[in-house]
Amino acid sequence: MEIHPITWRKNKIIILDQRSLPTRIRYKRCSDHREVCTAIKEMTIRGAPAIGVAAALGVALGAMHIKVYSHEEFLKKVESIIDEFANTRPTARNLFWALDRMRHTLREKLLTAGIPELKKILIKEALHILEEDIAVNIKIGSYGRSLIKNGDRILTHCNAGALATAGYGTALGIIRAAHEEGKKIHVYVDETRPVLQGARLTAWELSKEGIPHTLITDSMAGFIMKQGKVHMVITGADRIAANGDTANKIGTYSLAVLARHHSIPLYIAAPTSTIDLTIPDGSSIPIEERDPKEVTSFYGRRCAPKKTKAYNPAFDITPAELISAIITEKGIITPPYSEKLLEIHEKKTGLC
Ligand code: MRU
Repeated sequence: MEIHPITWRKNKIIILDQRSLPTRIRYKRCSDHREVCTAIKEMTIRGAPAIGVAAALGVALGAMHIKVYSHEEFLKKVESIIDEFANTRPTARNLFWALDRMRHTLREKLLTAGIPELKKILIKEALHILEEDIAVNIKIGSYGRSLIKNGDRILTHCNAGALATAGYGTALGIIRAAHEEGKKIHVYVDETRPVLQGARLTAWELSKEGIPHTLITDSMAGFIMKQGKVHMVITGADRIAANGDTANKIGTYSLAVLARHHSIPLYIAAPTSTIDLTIPDGSSIPIEERDPKEVTSFYGRRCAPKKTKAYNPAFDITPAELISAIITEKGIITPPYSEKLLEIHEKKTGLC
């Protein structure tokens, strides 16, 4: 079953509205790049690779509507659209990676192509980014499935599935690949408070694929590990620093501590576009703080007293020493990470 969270159709961007899932399948049609910015901010589309794809398509859409006569003005306007996207969500490295790619493509062709052609080049590059992401996910799945044995029970957090990418998924892509291979697996799905990406999105994807799974609240993870029900934890990543420290959905760090205590491996699955070698360690990764209302309410209804304040960091940092391996489209790396991340980042594959 293929899930397409974002597509480009007749010069519009069609986004599957992840806020309404799983109860309603709704699409948001964007004909203006500002609508795409809003969709990213409001998490109509979310997940690091999907945000990158949405921003690339959004830049192409915005560029399409620019009406200027000089290349200089065109570049200035595209740069300002890129800046708008850069201000949507701060943590996912893939967003900035995709924007850099769009900027680079434009600058490279600026002196040799006319403005109408440059617009087409930007659309083509954004669609490349989308297609590549699916190919990259499938490759991550093919490497990662080797870590899963028949009968394994896997705990995952948030949604790192088809919905969080252009399709197929990273952490969930590995689970999907193991299932497609015929391995009998069972997935424990953290509900992932406060936005419930696990309960609403991961459980939805697993149901559609017919992959056996059980939903738990985030606070149950330690107990089921103690009961011997979990063989490994696999999650995605929003940004991986040069030393391997990893930002991912809030709660991942707690899982990593619990996993280490119970001698359970924790694997991070991510494309190399999530690696940020400009950041030495996790302490410099920008962590998004979202509206406290996400915490004081549950599924749209206030559950805390009116005057109660809440703190809502959307991500946390898992230190490299708690990560058993990082699974990318270029292979699997194990600690110590610094040199291997550098090598894998530079490694060329036929995918990009
Ligand atoms: O706030 P979200 O839903 O965008 O957070 C998403 C995550 O933390 C995912 O685990 C991460 O982006 C990896 S998705 C392949």
